[in-house]
Amino acid sequence: MLKKKNIKDQKLIAGVVGCPVSHSLSPDLHNYWLKKHNINGQYDAYDIKPEKLAEFIKTMGEKNMIGLNLTVPHKETIFPFLDDIDKNARKIGAVNTIVCRQGRLYGSNTDNYGFLANLKAKAPEWRGNTGPVVIIGAGGAARAVIVSLLNEGVKEIRLVNRTRARAEKLKQLYQNPALRVCDWQKRSHSLSGAALLVNTTLLGMTGQPSLDMDLTGLPEGAIVYDIVYNPLETPLLKQARARGNPGVDGLGMLLYQAVPAFQAWFGQKVIVDEELRHYMIARLVK
Ligand code: ATR
Repeated sequence: MLKKKNIKDQKLIAGVVGCPVSHSLSPDLHNYWLKKHNINGQYDAYDIKPEKLAEFIKTMGEKNMIGLNLTVPHKETIFPFLDDIDKNARKIGAVNTIVCRQGRLYGSNTDNYGFLANLKAKAPEWRGNTGPVVIIGAGGAARAVIVSLLNEGVKEIRLVNRTRARAEKLKQLYQNPALRVCDWQKRSHSLSGAALLVNTTLLGMTGQPSLDMDLTGLPEGAIVYDIVYNPLETPLLKQARARGNPGVDGLGMLLYQAVPAFQAWFGQKVIVDEELRHYMIARLVK
């Protein structure tokens, strides 16, 4: 009995592992929920070099850790250290969440959940069958977005990437007739008849060039979703809003992707609301 009580009273530790990791907003986010729900837990950031990842994972038990988030550059290299990896993470080819249960490590990916939950919250009118989707970029973030959209039954996804070969590679990887590759030079033409445009690149982020895209061909009512959240209103979203197209910023994706992880680790249901959004916006500008 005593032993059980001790375990229950132990502080539950989770965190994010990356290199670098100091920019991560995940500690602010998870510690907000821990405080709000009065949970005896802690969420830290760990700056771990690639060659030290194996050692860090081995010592999770000693550190009493119940789980981890992974960020660049560990999302792909973590696979060999895990006991089980969910279908979603396999499809995306990246793990962003580890849950530790009875000494076993379970890997999953919650980025596609975050992408979709944010879209549904901000643009509830959107449906998988609304119309073609244009995705800018073909990196890890694009893979999570593609998996989300294919799961929602989107019939046409136009992939537009500066390096066309990378987009072609994704088309081969997913072997889905919904995927089409379009030329970077003709990216503005790819908007014809689209219901949703998603930027998955860093273009538009503070310190990066903006995404040079002429939205003239974008239909009225088409949604523009930028996964960049710093600044909240990227030049792309500004341009969309000026034309009257609904815009979805990337902060919600960051907030929603954390929900399933928090619930799995700490056993507490959490929500994304305006109060949390304001709290995090204040941290974006700090
Ligand atoms: P992530 O995992 O965050 O998606 P990534 O795998 O490095 O990051 O992918 C970055 C994406 O942004 C790629 O699609 C990249 O295009 P390339 O494949 O041509 O490199 C895109 N990207 C980055 N900088 C860019 C730029 N200046 N112009 C156009 N696309 C750019």
